[in-house]
Amino acid sequence: TNITWSPAMAEKAGYKHFMLKEIFEQPRALIDTFRHRVDPHGGEIILEEFHLNPDEVKRLKKITMVACGTSFHAALVGKFMLESLCRLPVEVDLGSEFRYRDPFVDSQTLLISISQSGETADTLAGLREAKTKGARSLAICNAVGSSIARESESVFYTHAGPEIGVASTKAFTTQLVSLYLIGLYLAKQLGYRQPDQIQQNLQALFKLPTLLQDVLDENRAIREIGQKYMKANNFLYLGRGIHYPIALEGALKLKEISYIHAEGYPAGEMKHGPIALIDEHLPVVVLATRSPVFEKMMSNIEEVIARRGRVIAVSESDNDTVREKVETTIPVPETSLELSPILLVLPLQLLAYHIADLRGTDVDQPRNLAKSVTVE
Ligand code: G6P
Repeated sequence: TNITWSPAMAEKAGYKHFMLKEIFEQPRALIDTFRHRVDPHGGEIILEEFHLNPDEVKRLKKITMVACGTSFHAALVGKFMLESLCRLPVEVDLGSEFRYRDPFVDSQTLLISISQSGETADTLAGLREAKTKGARSLAICNAVGSSIARESESVFYTHAGPEIGVASTKAFTTQLVSLYLIGLYLAKQLGYRQPDQIQQNLQALFKLPTLLQDVLDENRAIREIGQKYMKANNFLYLGRGIHYPIALEGALKLKEISYIHAEGYPAGEMKHGPIALIDEHLPVVVLATRSPVFEKMMSNIEEVIARRGRVIAVSESDNDTVREKVETTIPVPETSLELSPILLVLPLQLLAYHIADLRGTDVDQPRNLAKSVTVE
């Protein structure tokens, strides 16, 4: 008999790379993150790990989030989620900026640090800086017992499981689910969400893993799309509102592992610069699902096409307005606006993965990058 499985392959459960395995683990990772924190019937969210009492929550004046890399993009999505759910001002900063700018933080600030590893030096320094100023602290971490987890007053663990691929995937989507649950929990305490609304929000969350699986089922088609665009030297990613950070994340994934130059931009800002880059050689990935700014996104798509840019749109399968206009469509199912970033990032992770794999780069260990950056 032939032994075709090496121990390394066994670790990857038959997937070619850890990154691909981790992308496919996302429906499970999401369930593991929310299952024990929600009551499936009563619409309750149980956050035993959150150490602020209801009076302290009511006294909060703002939320500040600090993170680096992909976790920073989660924080940017979190700003949209928390501001709309809790009606509290939310500020987001990079660890490396926050720590040196003498930030406005006090005892009525909730400092949320987000870190997969819990060891990122700049994020940890940001947390320490905020604590000296009296801020209350909550960490969203994946690594149990890590420095950021140990030094925070409250810790919300994402249950993504170990993430080996340097480019973060399942840690990111579980961070987004965590922010959603924290947002709903705070909104309820602040009186902005009634139990029946929470129940609806949770029902949408419970459906999400199946929808994620629907996107993963497009894997083959996305590889073919990768084949079509893999020779490009530059990519532009556009999104608006809560999808703008997903454009940033899609571009980051592509440059990290394929070494293709990619920029993520809020679509409304395109006219102030990136529009100069558009020609028939530039693939432009647009996040164009129905949202309050869908019409605006359509105008941006027209502007790209008018300059012969090659539009790859991520959009609902029945969204003919988009499909009839663009060169390539990647279909995604429908969900609520707050949860849509979790769904939309999947095709971008897969697209980056396949382009990198087709170009033959070291997907799990990209050059010059480290999984966890514990030095400044
Ligand atoms: C490194 C990794 C990224 C990660 C970032 C922040 O740059 O390569 O994938 O997003 O650090 O890491 P953290 O562990 O704090 O989330």
